[in-house]
Amino acid sequence: MAPPRSLALALLLCALSASCHASISYPPSAMPAAAPAKDDFLSCLTKSVSPRLLYTKSSPAYGSIWASTVRNLKFDSDKTVKPLYIITPTEAAHIQATVACGRKHGMRVRVRSGGHDYEGLSYRSAKPETFAVVDMSMMRHLSINGRNATAWVDSGAQLGDIYYFTGKYTPRLAFPAGVCSTIGVGGHFSGGGFGMMLRKHGIAVDNVIDAKVVDANGILLDRKSMGEDYFWAIRGGGGESFGIVVSWQLKLVPVPPKVTVFQVYRGLKDGAIDLITKWQQVAPSLPEDLMIRIMAMGDTAMFEALFLGTCKDLLPLMGSRFPELGVKQADCKEMSWVQSTAYIPMGASATVNDLLNRTSNIKAFGKYKSDYVKDPIPKAVWEKIYTWLAKPGAGIMIMDPYGAKISSIPDRATPFPHRQGMLFNIQYVSYWSGEAGSAAPTQWSRDMYAFMEPYVTKNPRQAYVNYRDLDLGVNQVVGDISTYESGRVWGEKYFKCNFERLARIKAKVDPTDYFRNEQSIPPLFK
Ligand SMILES: Cc1cc2nc3c(=O)[nH]c(=O)nc-3n(C[C@H](O)[C@H](O)[C@H](O)COP(=O)(O)OP(=O)(O)OC[C@H]3O[C@@H](n4cnc5c(N)ncnc54)[C@H](O)[C@@H]3O)c2cc1C
Ligand SMILES: *[C@@H]1O[C@H](CO)[C@@H](O)[C@H](O)[C@H]1NC(C)=O
Ligand SMILES: *[C@@H]1O[C@H](CO)[C@@H](O)[C@H](O)[C@H]1NC(C)=O
Repeated sequence: MAPPRSLALALLLCALSASCHASISYPPSAMPAAAPAKDDFLSCLTKSVSPRLLYTKSSPAYGSIWASTVRNLKFDSDKTVKPLYIITPTEAAHIQATVACGRKHGMRVRVRSGGHDYEGLSYRSAKPETFAVVDMSMMRHLSINGRNATAWVDSGAQLGDIYYFTGKYTPRLAFPAGVCSTIGVGGHFSGGGFGMMLRKHGIAVDNVIDAKVVDANGILLDRKSMGEDYFWAIRGGGGESFGIVVSWQLKLVPVPPKVTVFQVYRGLKDGAIDLITKWQQVAPSLPEDLMIRIMAMGDTAMFEALFLGTCKDLLPLMGSRFPELGVKQADCKEMSWVQSTAYIPMGASATVNDLLNRTSNIKAFGKYKSDYVKDPIPKAVWEKIYTWLAKPGAGIMIMDPYGAKISSIPDRATPFPHRQGMLFNIQYVSYWSGEAGSAAPTQWSRDMYAFMEPYVTKNPRQAYVNYRDLDLGVNQVVGDISTYESGRVWGEKYFKCNFERLARIKAKVDPTDYFRNEQSIPPLFK
């Protein structure tokens, strides 16, 4: 079957950001009483940071710097609550000074690395608020230590930088993280980070061995000086909550010199529903070298695979474990691992140089939601799901199978709790192209989510923090501190029982709740 709009789809998937949910109400106490002493903040900051790294709303470049990684047109609007200042640090000392001056003069900061947050929380506020943005995009240094297969990478790098430079260093090393090259390291690692090697090597933070973070006192800490609780929290506990992570040390992982990719399309007429029904049980129990994910859209399912081996070894495995899919020699594309990181999201014409490209010419509006599935969904329900995928305004469903390494790590080992017994993750992606077109896709996304409730995890209904969704709830602020009770509503969906431990660590490292946004971890003091 011909690949329907495959390239367009792939490009869209790496170019979209999400929309916000407009109807959020806040208690009056959450509104800022008065603007902080902003001139004092600025004069404090200019003692340590060169004025050429500071932008105020009247700077000519303010607009282009702010918009540089806003990929969601919905937020590129006059109605968006934007920062008073943008700071573009080039070294850790600039971040330390920003936090120290911000604490002293009552200026909150939000941090942005790659700007992919689906709700835009790294560069806008959902309610009226005075704040500054620390934009990490000038800090993207990466150094590889081949002798012990480790690397240090700054938060402002993008995933494509890690993939490109690791692949260039040696075709035998790699790093397991997300699928789109423009995703920022800082936000992605802060929420966990998974991609096509999750079954072999787990998620990104399972392979992070050290980090440098600026805490709420403006002090620069490493793993040793921050301690193991703090180090646990920053590896997946969600962005913004615990400080500004400057850089991360990675354990690189071995890969064979050749890997195999396939993308096969099966329509409803080709038995797509039977295939998906079987995939639910097959994909999470395959050998760890093979990941087969699904994109369900319209009347089609795209089965997309990365196999850490050759086509010659893949075909007999497919023949014995999933013969119904009918994967043939002609479907196999063999390439280096680094080439696969360009090929999978950007298509056959992409080159490894495209991994370094930080600009994207496709902009759109989007709404994203996520679910987790532990019990196979019956075939009759998949038939209904496909009637949903045919409705006006329908988005797509991306399904990533778990099992093997990601599921072998205990739920409490990192803040990311979606591991043992998990069959797969679902991401619902709805997108549209103009301000007026939002109604049908937004409605579809909420209706679809309501329909899926009986078939996904319950108590709590789990969700992935990197697929940020303000529909799940937002913090209430009382006495200038986000409340634990309001945070639990969304927080246990993202973190299950780990939420409580995160909140206790927050109380230790940031008791005044300086680092906060609509879904930051609130402090728990008792
Ligand atoms: C096109 C696209 C594809 C995606 N594909 C995947 C995928 O394959 N796998 C996956 O797991 N996720 C995926 N995601 C989700 C992605 O992992 C998250 O949006 C992630 O948070 C983005 O990181 P960022 O640095 O680009 O975002 P930002 O918007 O800069 O940051 C996100 C959050 O982290 C905070 N933050 C940013 N930098 C720091 C820092 N240095 N220290 C502390 N907090 C920080 C921000 O304040 C914000 O709260 C995708 C998103 C998009 C838009
Ligand atoms: C790897 O080597 C570097 C430089 O020699 C060192 O800083 C780092 O701690 C080593 N890492 C491990 C995991 O041994
Ligand atoms: C980077 O990507 C943009 C958008 O796709 C494209 O217009 C531009 O030519 C690319 N730049 C390079 C150097 O390839």
